[in-house]
Amino acid sequence: MVTLFLCAFGKKHLVTALLQVEDLARHFVVQRTLFGRPLATVKAVDGVSFSIEAGDTFGLVGESGCGKSTLGRLILRLIEPQRGRILFEGKNITALGESDLRMFRRNAQLIFQDPYASLNPRMTVEQILLEPLFLHDVVPSPKRAQRVTELLRLVGLSPSAAQRYPHEFSGGQRQRIAIARALAVEPKLIVCDEPVSALDVSIRSQVLNLLRDLQRRFGLTYIFISHDLAVVKHIANKVAVMNLGQFVELAPARELFSSPRHPYSRALLAAIPVPNPQARRERIILHGELPSPIAPPPGCRFHTRCPFVVERCRTEVPKLEFERQDRAVACHRAGDLPPAEPVAGPRMSRSLEHLMAAFARKSDRRAAAGVDMIGPK
Ligand SMILES: Nc1ncnc2c1ncn2[C@@H]1O[C@H](COP(=O)(O)OP(=O)(O)O)[C@@H](O)[C@H]1O
Ligand code: SF4
Ligand SMILES: [Mg+2]
Repeated sequence: MVTLFLCAFGKKHLVTALLQVEDLARHFVVQRTLFGRPLATVKAVDGVSFSIEAGDTFGLVGESGCGKSTLGRLILRLIEPQRGRILFEGKNITALGESDLRMFRRNAQLIFQDPYASLNPRMTVEQILLEPLFLHDVVPSPKRAQRVTELLRLVGLSPSAAQRYPHEFSGGQRQRIAIARALAVEPKLIVCDEPVSALDVSIRSQVLNLLRDLQRRFGLTYIFISHDLAVVKHIANKVAVMNLGQFVELAPARELFSSPRHPYSRALLAAIPVPNPQARRERIILHGELPSPIAPPPGCRFHTRCPFVVERCRTEVPKLEFERQDRAVACHRAGDLPPAEPVAGPRMSRSLEHLMAAFARKSDRRAAAGVDMIGPK
């Protein structure tokens, strides 16, 4: 999306979104006839459009299997789309040749849920971090060892970690190594696919705060994929809610959590336990089976579970209607539903909130000093 704005000197400048996604789709054939004809297809991502400005943390939430990881991989061009366009800094990356694709890969990196699976167990941490430096020729060879030390410090690991192997580290430390590897090529965009889901709660807060520190220091842009709304609320400034391959709501994080518009977003928020038993919370119980992604329901894909369903919903697909550039809902009844009861939104337990605050203060101090002292376990 191209936005016009007036700078301090009164001149007009064109600002291009860092990432623009237009009508992106990817279907997987999951069953074929004996003659190889498609018999069953999953529409993992089915016509998704959005844009992200530099410095945003774009949260992507939805139930397991709704297409979040597929969307992340499409954006990085790790898999090819069926249709649609992806523009990175205004350049169509769906049509890039080999050398431009290499440059794009340097700009856009991925962090996985399971860092152990993504780190080669036979390589030392130094070799793991040298690999992208060598591949993308980021720094001249005499300076590469020094860069490895800097990267380790940046993610809060001691330089002595360089000579060790991934299995010698805890889960949180391995995720730090994976973050260092992503940072090695100085990317602009990082797709974080459930980066803290496999970690203990206390470690989770450290890694989230590290990601936030790094974003502040290097102006990074994140696509943050998670099924955990509490985590997304903590880190994202914009959120898209996904159901069966499509966006059903797009909103600034504060607005989504204070006044969700789509019945599915309301149900996701209502499903999160509130730690305070006195707190009131609108409860929306989803009845009906979770539809199969192979044969999604006609009309609104949520209609078999929606408490507000009307006849029109069963036949007519609701479009994602934008009321502002950053606020959109796909629901026939978005205008006439009762306002969502004020809900606290996904809340963390008091102890986790305290931990988050404590670690935020520590990591801020570390960042300011440019050092860290967390070593291998
Ligand atoms: N390579 C693949 N082959 C067949 N089906 C796939 C493949 N990758 C994903 N899918 C299917 O696409 C849907 C979306 O998957 P995914 O993007 O992993 O969801 P999420 O990350 O939201 O859990 C699921 O039904 C999944 O089974
Ligand atoms: S379009 Fe109808 S079924 Fe779908 S979310 Fe809105 S009210 Fe519910
Ligand atoms: Mg996934």
